[in-house]
Amino acid sequence: MDSNNKTIEYSTTISNIILTEFLDSDDKLIVEYLSEPEIHKNLDYLPQPYTLNDAHNFIQWCRDLKQQFQKNINFAIRDQNTGQLIGSCGFNEKDLKDNTNPTEVGIGYWIGKKHWGKGIGTAVVNALSKIGFNEYGYSKLYANVFEWNIGSQKILFKNEFVKEKILNNYVEKNGKLENVIKISKVKN
Ligand SMILES: CC(C)(COP(=O)(O)OP(=O)(O)OC[C@H]1O[C@@H](n2cnc3c(N)ncnc32)[C@H](O)[C@@H]1OP(=O)(O)O)[C@@H](O)C(=O)NCCC(=O)NCCS
Repeated sequence: MDSNNKTIEYSTTISNIILTEFLDSDDKLIVEYLSEPEIHKNLDYLPQPYTLNDAHNFIQWCRDLKQQFQKNINFAIRDQNTGQLIGSCGFNEKDLKDNTNPTEVGIGYWIGKKHWGKGIGTAVVNALSKIGFNEYGYSKLYANVFEWNIGSQKILFKNEFVKEKILNNYVEKNGKLENVIKISKVKN
């Protein structure tokens, strides 16, 4: 496990990965992973180029959100054995603001490209569902996915999320408004 002399207060294990808080020492891998164009293409907004300073701001932002909501909103995805950072996932803080009992909460995730295609994304959506429904008491989770992002749609469908609606011209990407698919799941 990465020892950055910081206690990891949150840890949950799913398949061969664990979700924890971010460590200062994650900064370089965050930059490496978020410099990948295919990750840029599929997320709403990321600074480009993505710098170490951006990574530091991101890690601090995760800590600030934890302070604000008194629970982890974003998680580092790590290899269970080595503790190495694999990616990030979490809940949409905009849905939580000023709302102690939100009707629906967005989820988001990215995984370093070299780790794609090993079932990690599917396990992460499973973990976010368990945390969101069972630990945080949310009644509905959703993800807004670009129409072209088949991998993300697949991992949601594998976790029994269903297509809810198409949001036309919903997100501006590279100066162009793009359609997204809202894919959601209601607590059983
Ligand atoms: C989406 C993402 C999280 C998936 O992670 P992952 O660990 O590769 O996911 P998994 O291995 O669990 O499953 C991916 C599935 O999508 C499939 N897939 C991926 N790209 C595909 C494509 N272009 N066409 C068809 N299927 C595709 C894989 O084959 C796999 O399906 P399978 O298990 O039936 O073979 C990862 O690709 C990523 O980080 N993308 C960039 C960021 C992003 O898109 N975030 C989500 C925004 S809504």
